Amino acid sequence: MAVPGSTLLFIFGTRPEAIKLAPLIREFRERPDVKVLVCVTAQHREMLDQVLSFFEITPDYDLNIMTKNQTLFDVTVVGLKALEEVLTHSKADLVFVQGDTTTSFIGALAAYYKKIKVAHIEAGLRSGNKYSPFPEEMNRVLASHLADFHFTPTRQSVGNLERENIKAHLYKVGNTVIDALFLGLDLINRQNESAFTKYFPGVQLQKRIVLITGHRRESFGGPFEDICHAIRDVAEKFKEVEFVYPVHLNPNVQEPVNRILMGLTNVHLIAPLDYPPFIWLMNKSYVVLTDSGGLQEEAPALGKPVLVMREVTERKEGIDAGTAKLVGTDRTVIVEELTRLLSDEGAYQIMAKAVNPYGDGTACKQIADLVMKILPKG
Ligand code: UD1
Ligand code: UDP
Repeated sequence: MAVPGSTLLFIFGTRPEAIKLAPLIREFRERPDVKVLVCVTAQHREMLDQVLSFFEITPDYDLNIMTKNQTLFDVTVVGLKALEEVLTHSKADLVFVQGDTTTSFIGALAAYYKKIKVAHIEAGLRSGNKYSPFPEEMNRVLASHLADFHFTPTRQSVGNLERENIKAHLYKVGNTVIDALFLGLDLINRQNESAFTKYFPGVQLQKRIVLITGHRRESFGGPFEDICHAIRDVAEKFKEVEFVYPVHLNPNVQEPVNRILMGLTNVHLIAPLDYPPFIWLMNKSYVVLTDSGGLQEEAPALGKPVLVMREVTERKEGIDAGTAKLVGTDRTVIVEELTRLLSDEGAYQIMAKAVNPYGDGTACKQIADLVMKILPKG
């Protein structure tokens, strides 16, 4: 058993980290032998707060570092310095970081500087290209080499770590995103449709829906504009289809999306959604068009074809299973592939199969059980 009162410190800063760590925080809160502390860098603000509020998490430390259109240097430098004091004050025995954001990297680095052990959740994903996703691929590599315990989602991610000679304390547990998804679906099943339809005034929900998200740094500028033009082309061609796009708050996303996609009656540009209505909409969608990491994991579990607007992905399992397809950011290719899915029922059915390569919803319980064994004995 763990030492009574061992302190676990969760450090995260963005929406996806919050979604993927929230069920784990809840799991640990039910364990009597540990003290759970939460530190948010708040690399994101509104989009993070949406998740904290749904999962009823009140941070013990809130570094509130987000600034408008922040650079990687801003997040790294300001966040790292602020974490020094948190680590001193919290007396953490084990620090948890998740995934590949700059907060994950600096959280692992700060803990290492303080010689505190690091547990990395969703370890081992690799695209093999350090500029795509940027800077996430390198954040992930660095976090892996700083971490002491590696909780990986799939066999492929185990293999990736082993190839980098990371072999100790490597545990395949599935992705906690599936635990979060099941929590979300459970809530949806217990509520009336009206609890969700109210988020989509003006969207004709009985029609086929293309759900869109996009925010990758490596696509900013020309490639992102191409993505928007491609969406516009297809929306003009398929007037009977609804396109719903909850637009990420990054100004580099907001500006081109609003400029290029505003004014089409079947394109709905809306604010980022709370997690349950977002999952509800995904479940109702016909196709998902995205560059998001999390959506590449959630959509296959729901049997939704995903067109991935990236040149490479570190989530190859959905591609291998056939539910996801890489389409890059080329306007012509995106138009062709989306057109095919909207007009060729055979092609659609081949992709529309529920496969869930990312876990069975027990990742959090497995991680908590393992950590209770790993922590120093009393
Ligand atoms: C970050 C992560 C990325 C992750 C994504 C999830 C890094 C370098 N990037 O990218 O890996 O996939 O989050 O969404 O860690 N903003 C707001 N309010 C918010 C959130 C963002 O206004 O709640 C705006 C701000 O102007 C902010 C900008 O978006 O400066 C960029 O935020 P940042 O976290 O640096 O990058 P993301 O593109 O969100
Ligand atoms: N999501 C959400 N509301 C939205 C868009 C996405 O709750 O309006 C959720 C989605 O279900 C997924 C996560 O946010 O779990 C993905 O976050 P994001 O795309 O910002 O980051 P990434 O996964 O690419 O790192």
